[in-house]
Parts: sequence; C-alpha cells; structure tokens
Amino acid sequence: MPQHTPYDFDRIIDRTGTYAEKYDARKRIFGNDTAEPFWVADMDLPTPAFLVDALHARVAHPIFGYTDADAGTSAAIQWWLDSQHGLRTEKSWVRLSPSVVTSMSHAIQVLSQPNDSVVFLSPVYGPFFTTVRQNGRHPLDVPLHPQQNRYEIDFDALESALARPDATLLLLCNPHNPGGRVFSRAELSAMVDLCHKHNVHIFSDEIHCDIVFAPHAHTSILSIEAAHPISIVAFSIGKLFNTSGLNASFALIPNPKLRAQFVSATQRSHCADINLLGKVALTTAMSPQGAEYKRQLIAYLAENTQEVHRILSAIPGVSVMRPEATYLVWGDFRALGTPTQVAKRLIDDAQVLLSGGAFFGQNGDGWFRANCAHPRQRLYPAMERVLQALAPGTRPHSAP
Ligand SMILES: Cc1ncc(COP(=O)(O)O)c(C=O)c1O
Repeated sequence: MPQHTPYDFDRIIDRTGTYAEKYDARKRIFGNDTAEPFWVADMDLPTPAFLVDALHARVAHPIFGYTDADAGTSAAIQWWLDSQHGLRTEKSWVRLSPSVVTSMSHAIQVLSQPNDSVVFLSPVYGPFFTTVRQNGRHPLDVPLHPQQNRYEIDFDALESALARPDATLLLLCNPHNPGGRVFSRAELSAMVDLCHKHNVHIFSDEIHCDIVFAPHAHTSILSIEAAHPISIVAFSIGKLFNTSGLNASFALIPNPKLRAQFVSATQRSHCADINLLGKVALTTAMSPQGAEYKRQLIAYLAENTQEVHRILSAIPGVSVMRPEATYLVWGDFRALGTPTQVAKRLIDDAQVLLSGGAFFGQNGDGWFRANCAHPRQRLYPAMERVLQALAPGTRPHSAP
C-alpha cells in the first residue's frame, strides 16, 4: 500500500504582502480592512507541497522564454478527467485558456450573435451577467427555486426562455455557484434535449467539478453524448489546487467546427495559450498525487461546509442551502433586514466579510455566501461570531 503524507489544512498562513485580493481589497469593497475575509472564492489552505515544489524547480531555471503549445498538458488533462470523472476525451478537444471566464467570453462570441439573449439559471456567479453584457448580448436569467434548502430548476420557465427566437446560448454552471447544487444526469439530459429542440448551444462552466461531497458526484455535460455537437465546456485547476493566480484553465470542444471557431476567437484576442507556470501547475496537479491531495481536501471541506451550515442554520429566520458541492455556503438572510443592514452587522459586530448576494443577480439580493476553505480554528469562531451578532445567545443545533 502506498504511504500518503497527510496534508495539514489547519495551518494558519499569513497572506499579507502576497497580492491576495481577499485581503487587499477589503477596504475598497467593504470599507473595512480588519474584519476577517470569507468572500472571494479562493482558499486560505495551501497548494499541496508536491505542486509548489514543481513550481520552485521550474523557477530555479533562469530562462522563462516562450513555451511549446502543448507541453504535456493535454495528456495530464485527459488522465484527470478519465480517472476523476470517468470522462473519455480526445486530445484534439483540449484548448488551453487563461481562465474559465476567458473561455466563457470566447464561447459567447462564437455561439451567439450581438443582441441575442443568453439564458442561464440564477442566482449565479456574477460574471455570467457581466460577460454577456460586455459582449453586447442580453442576459436572460431564469430563477432557480429554493425548496427545502436545495435549488430546483423550473423547466417550464427554462423552456420558455430557450424557445425565444433571440435565445441562442445556454450558460450552465455545474456544480452551481452559489447554492452548491450538483445537477443530476436526468436534469442535464433534459436541458440538452431542450437545447436541441430550440436550436440553442451550451457553454458549461465546470470549474467546481472536483469539489463535490459524497453521496453526490459530478456529471459533466460531456458525459451526455447528445451534448457533444452543441457544447463548449470549461474547467480549471484554480479551485481545487488554489492556483487561480496562475491562470491555468482549459476548454473541451468535441465538435471540430465549433472548435475551429473557438480557436479563431482566441487567436483574435491573442489568448490561445497560457503562461509557463500555469502549464507546470496543470501538468503537475492533474496526476495521482493530485488525486490523493483531492481526497484529503474534500474530506476537510465536507466537514467545514457542514459545520458552517449547522452554525448559520441556527439563526432564526435564516435558511441555508445544503452544500452538495463547492466550499461555499449560501444562505437567505432577508428576514433579518435589508442587505445593507445585515452587512453592517456582519462587518461591525461579527468582524466578518461575506460575499453579498447582489453580485449573483437580483435573485441573490439579501443572501450571503460564506467561503469555508479556511483553517477551522479561524472559520468556526468567525461563524460563531456571525451567529452571536445576528441572534445573540443562540446555540447552534446539535451535530447530527
Ligand atoms: C462558477 C465560477 N466560474 C468561474 C470562476 C472564475 O474562474 P476563472 O478565474 O478561471 O475565470 C469562478 C470563481 O469563483 C466561479 O465560481
């Protein structure tokens, strides 16, 4: 049996002076630079040592010139998708991209026309709205419905949106941020069928696919054969390995015609490749060592998200989505006052910064999102402070 080094996720790491947005932008975004930040979706947990070592080794070489386009990245990507998600891919499908949002922007350019409507389920990660608008298209968001702390899709509303003649593209976020929802094969197949019926293409953002908690499992849209001719899918190592600052992502495009159009869009904006350290990170991370790190990290995050869910659920009037995926816990705080009033109590009384729900669209207003990818000795006391600030004297429900 191979011996695995246990990773230490409890270590507190000072991020001062490392250009960390989560800390450095506090004053600008929240008007406070001392409250503890649990907003931006990166982790305060370390990138695994085997990956840091590979980066060190490359930086030790004093020449940082142009890199060969592939550099072994596709083989690593294909191995990872097969071993982690049972997804068989072909090398030709893989296109490197600096970020998932870059791929989303190119997909919007390729799969829709100016002034078209682009459909997605909301609330959703803010750039779904902004990237559509920046490309001269119109966001057409279909609200998800909270039912017993889980989002459900209103398929009638979704079909009405997709049936509009100006709707040409569906943007999916699977697993879903915020809300931590893992879409099932049946739901995804139904969406693919609707897209075929109404002649709509799909861009699927699967950036959170590796952070899924048992018994849930990620189903890529590409595991549905019928999605292949109409889909562009984006992944990244940024979330799982905490390497978002390295800008290492990729898209998979089975349809050669769509792929050629996508490549041409990336070439027009000179974004068809990624940086050297991103390549080193991608090829190193997507490996058996990366899979073992993932196993340990997910166990840590599963407990963190459950505990934060338990603490925040104790606040009378607050309902919190059950986290099936992502290290983000999303709750409805509207019963406690206006978003500004609640944010003020979170910041001034609890000394905690959470992501405000308006970033995720109108349907998110009054909700807040807590990032649980932090060492427990920081995370749990912070969430207890939230509980005491919003419901003084309340105890969390007992653990299951
Ligand atoms: C759903 C989703 N997509 C994309 C991103 C950003 O990815 P990237 O930095 O690769 O553009 C995030 C970051 O939080 C996200 O949650």
